[in-house]
Amino acid sequence: MNEPQTAAGKVLWHFTMSLDGFVAGPDHELDWMTETTFRPDLTDEYVGTTGAVLGGRDGWDRYPDAGGVYGGAWQGPVFVLTHHPEDAAPADGVTFLSCDPAEAVRIALEAAGGKNVEVLSPTIGRQLLELGLIDEIDLHIAPVLLGEGIRLYDNPGGKPIHLHRAGVDDPASAVDVRYRPVTTAKPPAGNAPE
Ligand SMILES: NC(=O)c1ccc[n+]([C@@H]2O[C@H](COP(=O)([O-])OP(=O)(O)OC[C@H]3O[C@@H](n4cnc5c(N)ncnc54)[C@H](OP(=O)(O)O)[C@@H]3O)[C@@H](O)[C@H]2O)c1
Repeated sequence: MNEPQTAAGKVLWHFTMSLDGFVAGPDHELDWMTETTFRPDLTDEYVGTTGAVLGGRDGWDRYPDAGGVYGGAWQGPVFVLTHHPEDAAPADGVTFLSCDPAEAVRIALEAAGGKNVEVLSPTIGRQLLELGLIDEIDLHIAPVLLGEGIRLYDNPGGKPIHLHRAGVDDPASAVDVRYRPVTTAKPPAGNAPE
């Protein structure tokens, strides 16, 4: 098990991800994670360590609710990066930024007051990764295969990005997981109730 997340002014790329690497369905759907059981202390851990949230305009337009972060348990400054802030409807607690991603992170870190900034956007996370501004990729892997959607990391033609696993002795170690498909198979013939 990973060590608990700590509040240390870090920039986290934080998602629940399907086993095949998607963080949302093709139309930004998130309902695929409703059957996932998260550990009971997870929300408290991230509510306590998150100081600000940085997202992108597509995610905001689909879920324009700053009060909905962590099911409403977290309240704080939300920043939305967009090329066209002028047509965004003002919302309490939300600042629409039109700047480069590094500047957006600087602004969000300042607002986070020493806690972490959560980057809830695959596209912005990728840009920040290229700039060396992601401290941790923090994932909860849901037991589901989606087959299509918005990938955590989509960079056709790009080179592999090597990672170190946090909180373990061997940072290059693989994570072993085993899953079984959920079946709705009928009981074998002969076992049917009379
Ligand atoms: N699984 C999870 O745990 C989880 C958690 C949170 C969110 N999500 C999902 O994550 C998805 C986010 O989708 P996404 O990454 O495709 O879209 P996104 O990051 O929300 O939005 C992308 C848009 O942000 C703006 N943007 C990105 N970089 C910019 C830059 N450098 N400068 C100015 N504007 C910039 C652009 O909008 P404009 O050009 O229109 O300005 C761009 O089209 C959503 O579906 C959301 O539901 C999943």
